Amino acid sequence: MALPLYDFIYFIMFIFKTVKDIAAYLDAQRAQGKIIAFVPTMGALHKGHLSLLKAAQQVPALTVCSIFVNPTQFNNAADLEKYPRTTEQDIALLTEAACDVLFLPDVAEVYPDGRDIQEPYDLGYLESVLEGAYRPGHFQGVAQVVERLLRIVKPHKLYLGQKDFQQVAVLRRLIDIRHLDVTLESVPTTREPDGLAMSSRNRRLTETQRSLAGLIYQCLVSIQSKKGMQSFSVVQKECRELLIHKGFRPDYIELADAATLELLPDYDPSRKMVALIAAYIGEIRLIDNLVL
Ligand code: PAJ
Repeated sequence: MALPLYDFIYFIMFIFKTVKDIAAYLDAQRAQGKIIAFVPTMGALHKGHLSLLKAAQQVPALTVCSIFVNPTQFNNAADLEKYPRTTEQDIALLTEAACDVLFLPDVAEVYPDGRDIQEPYDLGYLESVLEGAYRPGHFQGVAQVVERLLRIVKPHKLYLGQKDFQQVAVLRRLIDIRHLDVTLESVPTTREPDGLAMSSRNRRLTETQRSLAGLIYQCLVSIQSKKGMQSFSVVQKECRELLIHKGFRPDYIELADAATLELLPDYDPSRKMVALIAAYIGEIRLIDNLVL
């Protein structure tokens, strides 16, 4: 019996667990003139992560993903421990999505000399505002792991999601202060049908929490739609009250300059702006943003 043609289409993805092996493989690929496009992740992959991979595949390039739950960027041990780990499923998703290379190191491989940061990164204002203020040390850990990964993979291009708007700004700064030779590409946020930004943490939401979680995006849209019609402080108060009424615990609902993340007291039509929200629902902390 003739099988349909697609039964014969399959992809091969190389998986490396050590720095030595992946570095040797990628050195050879680079020497052959391949462009290397890198998508760092912490796994528990979803369509948002895969959209970064798709963007990387447009180049065309050799696509490298990493899955590493970085202990140094978690503010509390419980969050690290509860971070979803779905490696088998992630490997299947990446293979199906035609990723070329997966880097899957353990902690000792990434931090052979321990996890301390020798000299803290000068992240400036970015570290004292929004996520920087609410998650002390988080961006130091993010910068630390991404610098290490970049020095291992040595990609031409680095793909990051706008979902983590401030992380993109921090890593842009990292590239600048460490003079890293890589081009940063940021990819729009992938959302669920109700607007909830896809996130690995969403799978920890109960059914009730999940049914409410789209409210964060609705608040962002309302901040966007009231631009030029109302003062931001009024919209901010309405959003805060609505979120609290529905059982959220907002950390912040802010408006900022999209280039610098300087907080803005009110809409400023002369600037590109971004609205950002962080809120707990139960014990899960969700963040989202929308460029106005
Ligand atoms: P993680 O949360 O796994 O996200 C990996 C990448 O996917 C990040 O660049 C993130 O912004 C992007 N991403 C997540 N959800 C997305 C969505 N709904 N739409 C588009 N992109 C999305 O961010 C991290 O891991 C870590 O901090 C890391 C950079 C890997 C360093 O440890």
